[in-house]
Amino acid sequence: MQKFQSIKGFLFDLDGVITDTSIYHEMAWHQLADQLNIPWQAAFAEQLKGISREASLAVILDSTGKHVDYSEADKVAMATAKNDNYLKLLQQLTPDSIAPGIEALLVELKQAGYAIGLASASKNAPIVLERLGLSDYFEARVDPATLKNGKPAPEIFERCAALLGLQPTECIGVEDAQSGIEAINAAGAISVGIGSKEVLTKAQICFEQTQALTLENIRNAFH
Ligand code: BG6
Ligand code: MG
Repeated sequence: MQKFQSIKGFLFDLDGVITDTSIYHEMAWHQLADQLNIPWQAAFAEQLKGISREASLAVILDSTGKHVDYSEADKVAMATAKNDNYLKLLQQLTPDSIAPGIEALLVELKQAGYAIGLASASKNAPIVLERLGLSDYFEARVDPATLKNGKPAPEIFERCAALLGLQPTECIGVEDAQSGIEAINAAGAISVGIGSKEVLTKAQICFEQTQALTLENIRNAFH
């Protein structure tokens, strides 16, 4: 692991880190699965974190084991239906929905001179940040529509570091998804997981809760 002193920037995932929208994604997919008469599986909750809308739909459709050849138009309609469900749920978001400790961390990082970037797979990220009132903290944001490969590929974290003018090795990535932790590790950044150590087994540093995400705790976790 590189030294804490070499860190110059932080690359944040959004859903499940900055706010708990991962539960809204899950609810919106669950609603779609019900409409399609596809049985919901408990394992979807973790599997769908971090991966794109299209990849998520593929996981759900593949789970039936029927391998029906849906047309592109059918798949677009299904993904759009899920997103409509999701957008309705997002209407509940306010600055009170910011995960505990996150705004304090962003303030602390800004004051300490760290660069801050957003590495979210969500095309709804601008709406979410706007509703939370956090848009101004992020000096760089990756547009997921421009990526060839989603998480667990390292591309999104590599791009985010480059947009900040940094090497990935000079950055810490913060993630709640296994796919995201793998992407951070593959990029060569330091991975900080938010959630259970049993799930985020590949995280170099892991905190159960966002409250624990302080600069001091992160610095102390380096070895
Ligand atoms: C990620 C979520 O942040 O964004 C995934 O963890 C989601 O669950 C992905 O599928 C894409 O989001 P969106 O908003 O573009 O459908
Ligand atoms: Mg996430």
